[in-house]
Amino acid sequence: MSIFESAGLKLLRLSNPEFAHNVAIKALNLGLVPKPKTSVFENLKTSICGLELDSPVGLAAGFDKNAEAVDPLLKCGFGFIEVGAVTPKGQPGNPKPRLFRLPKDQAVINRFGFNNLGMDIISERLARRSTKGIVGVNLGANKNSDDRIKDYVKVLQCCAPFVDFATVNVSSPNTENLRNLQEKNSLNDLLDEVMTSRENLENKVPVFLKISPDLTLNQIDDISEIALKMQIDAIVATNTTVDHQGLQSDVNNKHGGLSGRPLFSKSTWVLANLSARLDKKVPLIGVGGIASAEDAYVKLLAGASAVQLYTGLVYNGMGLVTKINKGISEMLSKQHKSNLSDIVGSEREKYQ
Ligand SMILES: Cc1cc2nc3c(=O)[nH]c(=O)nc-3n(C[C@H](O)[C@H](O)[C@H](O)COP(=O)(O)O)c2cc1C
Repeated sequence: MSIFESAGLKLLRLSNPEFAHNVAIKALNLGLVPKPKTSVFENLKTSICGLELDSPVGLAAGFDKNAEAVDPLLKCGFGFIEVGAVTPKGQPGNPKPRLFRLPKDQAVINRFGFNNLGMDIISERLARRSTKGIVGVNLGANKNSDDRIKDYVKVLQCCAPFVDFATVNVSSPNTENLRNLQEKNSLNDLLDEVMTSRENLENKVPVFLKISPDLTLNQIDDISEIALKMQIDAIVATNTTVDHQGLQSDVNNKHGGLSGRPLFSKSTWVLANLSARLDKKVPLIGVGGIASAEDAYVKLLAGASAVQLYTGLVYNGMGLVTKINKGISEMLSKQHKSNLSDIVGSEREKYQ
């Protein structure tokens, strides 16, 4: 981390977390954040459902909810980024405060509740991007919608011309009952409509499904079965957890989704179990608690073909992306593996 970046991060950590995040996005947009040194590592190039990635390391949804900083983010070393969640109508989200840092745990709790400017403004921004790179949109539903399934379809139809993939997010804990859409019948109905509408699009983007870490093995069985039946292009495992056990920080009154280090093992367990059931028939994207190249490598060994991160960036800055890229590349070379695909899922039993 440069002195400038480390001073900036310290200053931002002293302020209100949501304000600090908004400042960071504005600073990125204005070119005020020093660009991390990025390099392309030949052995990290990979392809996932037809998307050619320079790196398997992506930016998780929620960091750039309104597609404000797509161009600068694409220059930070990510192989792909995901904006949103985007809902049909703009909405303010839950009352503040709704973002809490837990430094002792290297974690964050958020209960934003899909605050965003809505699909019209965000799709216009996506259309204007000028930097090459893989960009996806995280699809959400409005809080007061009387047909949530239609909401996902509307955002897909509106944003598809300007993105490379879309993620059906049924795993945010901050919109009441949204996670119920993960249940077998509801998920089946939802994905049926989304996949049918995708077939009618000119730009038939790959559709990913993002799931929660708070699942039982039976639920993982059901999700795997439906993902195969519906020919989902990839599964993103996982979103934040509502399980706040074992934290060192005081989390009284801080209900919401927990991310960062305490999520690592839980999300990796879901990932490994999905990997065992799907056995590479559906690619997996591992998310949850990645803050180092070693963490990212474990996700690959547990079954991920690519990874995403968010909270690690809050504590380590954007330079972390290059560190992870470099670290994975070196670990692959040390193991005499020329391709990422050689290690994907190779140790999943360890994490099940
Ligand atoms: C402040 C915040 C907002 C988030 N918003 C979204 C969102 O809108 N949609 C989504 O699918 N995930 C969202 N997430 C979840 C992340 O994409 C990611 O799945 C989760 O934080 C675990 O990864 P991490 O431990 O690297 O942060 C959000 C996470 C945080 C911390």
